[in-house]
Amino acid sequence: MTDLLTTTGGKDAIPVHTVSGEGLANWLKTLSPAQATWVRENHFTAKKDEIIRLAGDKGEISAIILGLGKDHVSPDPWSLAALAKNLPEGKYCLAEQDEDNTLSALGWVLAQYDFNRYKTGRKSRKAVLVVKNKAQLQEISTLTRGINLVRDMVNIPTCDMGPEQLSQVMREMSDKYDAVFTETVGDDLLKRGFNAIHTVGRAAARAPRLLDMVWGRKEAPKVTLVGKGVCFDSGGLDLKSAAGMRLMKKDMGGAAHTLGLAQVIMESGLDVRLRLLIPAVENNISGNAFRPGDIITTYKGTTVEVDNTDAEGRLVLCDALALASEDDPDLILDYATLTGAARVAMGPAIVPFFTDGDDIARGLADHAGQVNDPLWRMPLYRPYMPDLDSPHADLNNTGSGPYGGAIMAALFLKHFVENPEKWVHFDVFAWNPKDQPGRPKGGEAMAFRAVYDYLKNRFEKK
Ligand code: BES
Ligand code: ZN
Ligand code: ZN
Repeated sequence: MTDLLTTTGGKDAIPVHTVSGEGLANWLKTLSPAQATWVRENHFTAKKDEIIRLAGDKGEISAIILGLGKDHVSPDPWSLAALAKNLPEGKYCLAEQDEDNTLSALGWVLAQYDFNRYKTGRKSRKAVLVVKNKAQLQEISTLTRGINLVRDMVNIPTCDMGPEQLSQVMREMSDKYDAVFTETVGDDLLKRGFNAIHTVGRAAARAPRLLDMVWGRKEAPKVTLVGKGVCFDSGGLDLKSAAGMRLMKKDMGGAAHTLGLAQVIMESGLDVRLRLLIPAVENNISGNAFRPGDIITTYKGTTVEVDNTDAEGRLVLCDALALASEDDPDLILDYATLTGAARVAMGPAIVPFFTDGDDIARGLADHAGQVNDPLWRMPLYRPYMPDLDSPHADLNNTGSGPYGGAIMAALFLKHFVENPEKWVHFDVFAWNPKDQPGRPKGGEAMAFRAVYDYLKNRFEKK
């Protein structure tokens, strides 16, 4: 449970009124003459995130008025976010309770996330919101804990978030929700044929692993999540620049997304047979590092020539996706911080996704709109496939030119998936490059609320 929400004590909570630019004149009429004068004299015009406090008879703060600005569109998860982050510690409630405020209450909580575990002596301040009922509190709480797990895991530096720690997170989650956890570590990967995962991770001091968790009733629809767990991406021998490497602790962001989503799915009890696969490695260098030109026989049997050791995400994922396909799931979702090109195409906030399933794509787009979590479908454009040809192996791990990098990576992954119409690949950034209301700079869950909403709609227990 989050301690930023409660269902009790509404009477001593300070009410927060939200007023749009268009609604200001009418709202003023509902105030006492003294209060209306106060609002006007303070030049409050209900601009976005503008705040004014009203005083009661004893001079106490009797209400907080929040401007929503002009052309405010609802639902907006971030309408209360800037306010929540700046309020003094205390208890607050929403004065206008009529509309469904689940999203804005979620934003209230997400806005107060503070990654302070390495700051000695810093404590988080708590502005608590009174919500409608237990069910609403539970729903927001579950989502928040999933999202904040993603944020934490991405923000924690690699020194404390290596392959072994990813394994520990999954193991603890399995214990908590009665799932079955198994893992294949180090040279055992070679025995099972996971040569691509081993190849990418073998040079690091910390052994590569494939993590596997299974949960839910056997006969339920099968949903498999696959997350890129590159705990640090130095680029391997085709080493990244200093600037390019700086944020690469976040290259396990895909793994963090799938762990967060798995937690939400299990906690809310969706009727699915869930499997979570995470290839967990560090792409580092030493005398036994893999090299440009090496050829890998992958788990599926396809041989891949390594054109660039920095295109390592698709290598670890290709083994995990081939394994995922073996038990013919109804849905495979993979999350990966896969390409810089996805960012060039979409910017940091919009997540491109790839699938051959038109119905799934429409469903995802619908839910993305409903919960205001931006996604955009990109094409698995088959005519580009020959660009992945290698002179000596079945495939190359990069395209031949500088164009369409996110599409080339997605086409590479698709080769390893048995039923691409039941598969979705999300190329996520997992990072907010700047502070925005509700979305503090640093690790972030993206394409998370939309996907959960889609899954809930498709698989909720009837
Ligand atoms: N982890 C990176 C992709 C990345 C970079 C994501 C920056 C977000 C921000 C990935 O492993 C990578 O290095 N991809 C290369 C592929 C290239 C070598 C074909 C890229 O995108 O430049
Ligand atoms: Zn890379
Ligand atoms: Zn990477």
